[in-house]
Amino acid sequence: MRIASKTSTLPAIAGIALAVSFAVGARAETGKPPDPEAAKRGAGLYARYCVSCHGDKGRGEPPIPGSIRLPGFFTAPALDDSQHAWHHSDEALVRVILEGSPRTDRMPAWKNVFTSEDAFDIVAYLKSLWGNRALECQGPKHMSCM
Ligand code: HEC
Repeated sequence: MRIASKTSTLPAIAGIALAVSFAVGARAETGKPPDPEAAKRGAGLYARYCVSCHGDKGRGEPPIPGSIRLPGFFTAPALDDSQHAWHHSDEALVRVILEGSPRTDRMPAWKNVFTSEDAFDIVAYLKSLWGNRALECQGPKHMSCM
């Protein structure tokens, strides 16, 4: 009797644990492909708030030649996998989105506009633009993962 009830509760507990861990990691996780639903939500936010500077599909602003660029003017980098957005963990990208860049107000803090869930959705969208190598090598391990 005892053994029988134990064997029937174990799979249930394992099932709950799996469901919880899936819910926590659902949006995106550093080094893993993003959740497609989160990426879809993030795409809407990106189109509304980010595309004007970071460009269609995260391609970034065209570079401005040093000779005509005003001192202290930063162009918006690409957020697809052509520059170094993928060298950052999901959490680091979310932090830049919520806190802005310390170097320029051109990249403002969005924390009064977005929750951190929204920011993770945007990161999921950005990651949907990356190839497998950038996804697998994302974050601090990019140096040793070529
Ligand atoms: C008005 C222009 C502008 C808008 C709008 C804007 N950004 Fe930026 N963003 C920038 C600039 C300029 C930088 C570079 C800052 C620096 O070099 O310190 C930047 C940097 C970033 C970075 C760091 C990239 C890296 O490789 O380190 C991320 C992530 C980012 N932006 C995400 C976003 C998201 C998401 C949105 C929309 C919610 C957004 N930005 C809206 C101008 C903008």
